Amino acid sequence: MKQIPNKVYLGEENMPKQWYNLRADMPVKPAPLLHPGTGKPATLDDLRPVFCDELARQELDDTTRYIDIPGPILDFYRMYRPSPLVRAYSLEKHLGTPAKIYYKYEGNNTSGSHKLNSAVAQAYYAKAQGITGLTTETGAGQWGTAMAMACGVFGVDLTVYMVKVSAEQKPQRRTLMEVYKAAVIPSPSDTTKVGREILAQNPGTGGSLGCAISEAIEKAVTSENCRYVLGSVLNQVVLHQSVIGLEAKAAMDMLGEYPDIVIGCAGGGSNLGGLICAYMQDRLTGKANPYFIAVEPASCPSMTRGRFAYDFCDTGRTTPLAKMYTLGCGFIPAPNHAGGLRYHGMSPILSQLYHDGYLDEARSAEQTKVFEAAMLFAQKEGLLPAPESAHAIRAALDEALKCKETGEAKTILFGLTGTGFFDMTAYRNYLDGGMGDYIPTDEELEKGFATLPNV
Ligand SMILES: Cc1ncc(COP(=O)(O)O)c(C=O)c1O
Repeated sequence: MKQIPNKVYLGEENMPKQWYNLRADMPVKPAPLLHPGTGKPATLDDLRPVFCDELARQELDDTTRYIDIPGPILDFYRMYRPSPLVRAYSLEKHLGTPAKIYYKYEGNNTSGSHKLNSAVAQAYYAKAQGITGLTTETGAGQWGTAMAMACGVFGVDLTVYMVKVSAEQKPQRRTLMEVYKAAVIPSPSDTTKVGREILAQNPGTGGSLGCAISEAIEKAVTSENCRYVLGSVLNQVVLHQSVIGLEAKAAMDMLGEYPDIVIGCAGGGSNLGGLICAYMQDRLTGKANPYFIAVEPASCPSMTRGRFAYDFCDTGRTTPLAKMYTLGCGFIPAPNHAGGLRYHGMSPILSQLYHDGYLDEARSAEQTKVFEAAMLFAQKEGLLPAPESAHAIRAALDEALKCKETGEAKTILFGLTGTGFFDMTAYRNYLDGGMGDYIPTDEELEKGFATLPNV
């Protein structure tokens, strides 16, 4: 029997040269974005004031199956890609499972996560169009850092609205963004009208991604030659993240392996959409039938307890409306160390796939169970995971343990989206026994649903 290596690095020459647009193969396309004023499907002209032109085009393109990755983006990708596909031998041995566990590690770059895959594209298209300033929000800080790096390299000014609790928990993230010359503002802030309103209603709020998005959009549309960029949820972001899944499949193919189960954590859905894309294509085209699992925090359960409805992507109700699994744009999740998963909605692509039964399962994980998995993974695999990524680890462990019971040697692939080096406060909290599991009650969720727009 051939020995499968611990790590597979594709050669740079095997890096994908095109992104794969999953929408092209979906039998039911994600519902169109709606203009918040007219309630009609958003057009290119509607999106242009917010996004740069090429990204607006990608957002609306449901049919082009493969899109060429421009040369300067490929050059940037080569600085940190291809990312490794790793066989978790040590973890398998510890669990005593017959399952084969693989993970695709996206934390091998200074920003520390998969977010850079889309940041590079978004900064590049802005620069190519002559845009001089970009604004964005960041939760965990990963997206802001990725965007700061990308803007630093391409030479575009960046303002980052960082969710206040994350800014407090992760001062190092802020420093790193400033290394790349980004301006970082804890959100909600008094620098925007919407921020001032949110603060007036809820002065003690730790903020949320939804609030920070509202602030970043307001800043973009009120500043000259400035656009807004978002690190998840949008179709264009899922498109850019397809490099994860294309590489993963190429590496698995080299090993002669095919996953029975593919698992990803789900915040706004970008890494999950990227990781599963190539295997989902097989599923959608009837070639194979892998089982897909999305894992979200029990404190912010948009897929497991949310509604499939049109909603705003931000708390300030300024964005186009997206049809997605959502807890309501007014839902403000409890503080949770997986800051990047604290978002009220889910990518319309993944939402549609889930609704139609192609994304088989969404499950939620409690924070302490997630950190238990993160600790074990760090100890056995020698790699400290981001708390967001540890949601996927939790599910991978649980699936591997099920295999131990049944004796099935399933092949499991999960996405390890980022490093936990900036999450020491969270690990400290866990080690000190200070971590709790907040699960919203049905009544609390109802308050969020009450903020859903009437469409
Ligand atoms: C390390 C990491 N993983 C996962 C996520 C979740 O985002 P998405 O669902 O868009 O992949 C984030 C978001 O900030 C993150 O930082």
